[in-house]
Amino acid sequence: MSIEIVRAEGYDDLSRRAADLVAGCIGSNPTARVLIATGRTPIGAYRVLADGVTEGTLDASGITAYQLDEYLGLGPDDRRSLGGWAVETFVRPLRIADERFVRLPLAGDGALDEYDRRIRGDGGYDLSILGIGENGHLGFNEPPSDASTASRVVELTPGTIDANASYWGDAADVPRRAATVGLRPLLESARILLLASGARKREILERALFRPVTPDVPASCLQHARGEVVVIADRDAFPTGSNGAST
Ligand code: GLP
Repeated sequence: MSIEIVRAEGYDDLSRRAADLVAGCIGSNPTARVLIATGRTPIGAYRVLADGVTEGTLDASGITAYQLDEYLGLGPDDRRSLGGWAVETFVRPLRIADERFVRLPLAGDGALDEYDRRIRGDGGYDLSILGIGENGHLGFNEPPSDASTASRVVELTPGTIDANASYWGDAADVPRRAATVGLRPLLESARILLLASGARKREILERALFRPVTPDVPASCLQHARGEVVVIADRDAFPTGSNGAST
């Protein structure tokens, strides 16, 4: 499968292009199963989509949204909940009913295996909206992670703890363990949209898309994705190995 790499001018352009693609998917499949990342990168696209809902040009009420990753060990109303973040930035603004947001089970690997089986039985994700970590992680698939990894509990790496500290104030505020959708179910998505913004993502995007596939750069396994992969990178994140065409 080829990877299409789209060069956006800046963050607003990236957000608009990403929202157009997502809205197109929802338009052609109003009951799509859509896996949604949190993190800063997709927030602009989620806002554009929410504007479409408010203006009446988009109806997302029939989709089912799925959580990509979650910290472990938080209380139900913890401000650091990634599920809470997804509800605030995607589920509510897009007027998706709470029962159409599927949270990751946090009871351990057995529950996550069962979760993977259920999604696969339903036909897999129709669209996965992803960001990329500076260490090449997708969700919390930390290096080393290969294409066969199931959804599971992981220990966060020091680099990810530092990167996530910017969300919550301090590295001490970042939980050490998390649950993540694995690379295998992600790679089985019919479509993957990967978003990258800013110079800090350029080098890892280059390694993920243009260097050999390796568990040390989990996002490199996108080169083996089953479905269509679209990468939208803004000017600063755009990999130098790309001329804007497909790989
Ligand atoms: C985080 C999350 C990912 C997210 C990625 C990039 O650690 N686990 O789901 O996509 O790193 O985050 P950001 O978009 O804030 O750069």
